[in-house]
Amino acid sequence: MSTSLANQENLFDKWVDQLKVEAPHSSNQPSINLPYQRWFRFKEAYSPQLVSDIVSSLETRPVTVLDPFGGCGTTAVTCQFLGITPTAIEVNPFLADLTQSKLSQYDLNDLKSAKLDLLQAVDRIHITQKDIDKYPPTFCEPGIKDRWLFSEALFHRILQYKAVINSFEDQDVKRLFKVVLGSCLIPVSNVLIDGKGRKYRKNWLENQSKVDDFEELFLQKLDEVICDIREYGAKTRDFNLLKGDCREQIKNVQSFDLSIFSPPYPNTFDYTDVYNVELWILDYIKSNEQCLSLRSETLRSHVQVKRDYGNIYAKSFLLEQVEKQLKEIEQNLWHKDIPSMVGAYFSDLGGLLMEMRTKIAVDGNIIMVVGDSAYKSIRVPVADILEEIAISIGYKTHKKEVLRKLRTSYQQGRRQDLDETMLWVVPSS
Ligand SMILES: C[S@@+](CC[C@H](N)C(=O)[O-])C[C@H]1O[C@@H](n2cnc3c(N)ncnc32)[C@H](O)[C@@H]1O
Repeated sequence: MSTSLANQENLFDKWVDQLKVEAPHSSNQPSINLPYQRWFRFKEAYSPQLVSDIVSSLETRPVTVLDPFGGCGTTAVTCQFLGITPTAIEVNPFLADLTQSKLSQYDLNDLKSAKLDLLQAVDRIHITQKDIDKYPPTFCEPGIKDRWLFSEALFHRILQYKAVINSFEDQDVKRLFKVVLGSCLIPVSNVLIDGKGRKYRKNWLENQSKVDDFEELFLQKLDEVICDIREYGAKTRDFNLLKGDCREQIKNVQSFDLSIFSPPYPNTFDYTDVYNVELWILDYIKSNEQCLSLRSETLRSHVQVKRDYGNIYAKSFLLEQVEKQLKEIEQNLWHKDIPSMVGAYFSDLGGLLMEMRTKIAVDGNIIMVVGDSAYKSIRVPVADILEEIAISIGYKTHKKEVLRKLRTSYQQGRRQDLDETMLWVVPSS
């Protein structure tokens, strides 16, 4: 083994040594306090251990690894630690920046002086009512119907921080500071992310965060980020990040040996909605039209935006059965488009797998972590359907393993009976 690879592995071992919580590797629980992963709490992430276990089980060490649904960058960051060049695709611009900031290299002195500049300049920024009016009215007191996300003083302070960060010339430093600011927003807001949406905290009016709480949290997060970079900045430098819709961006990927990913599940959960606060406040979206257009670029796993639900790529007997069953109970579903959305979901993934088939190495591997969904009594067995589709387009199954049981939605009584499965496929010839 070369010295640099051995050093790399030592760094990786030191990093994952901190995975302390016993929990399934498909959950983010073991890694919420792990350096890099603690930069932003991303509930939908899997653990780096899932990625490293797969890599170490392979006979040949992969050179390029692809994650078309990058999220907070778990696959990509873990691969960088392992000395493998990652390619990540992510449609949500805040999450793409989060990933890029984890994968980039920094000069620690630049970060320290940016912190000083920020603290010196922030009081000089003047925020006007016109600045506030650019955001959805629920964001700032007095809000709508006596509800708001941030008090007026706090929202002013957040916008002051953002204005200084936006004035940074170094794009890497600017992106990193934006991510730190993004990671403080929900924790100091009056809401928490619950299930598929936001929910006001208990007694939120009396317990609203103050400007001091925000500033303390921001500095604490920034120090953690700088500490992680100081400790682990020597991980591999190479990476590719494609920002946008993987159904399009996959065409820009040359080739890959291994792909590990977890797409959104067909459970009508719209990630754009959930990360709306970060997207608006950090200027990734500036109008409802931009928000709608971002939602339309996401995988067709939800019904919040009106769009075409045509299915052109998914050939599966099982899917036909499920669609038929869903159509039969269409009247009782909370949205009439759910049956077609389910078909469209598999069409999107089928199209992606088809494109990936033209780029995967002959001895390459694709590992997907997917969760089943349920609508009324109808179960959508995602891994089984995807397996049929993958086989129909030139893959064969290497392994299929249930990783854990997920809960059904509140409407379904929160029963713990949906499978989250790892489906591992390889080219069939
Ligand atoms: C389950 S999460 C992935 C989590 C990731 N494995 C991790 O550990 O951070 C799915 C991700 O897919 C992204 N996504 C949804 N539609 C997409 C699309 N069309 N192209 C690229 N990314 C998409 C979502 O924004 C979300 O970040």
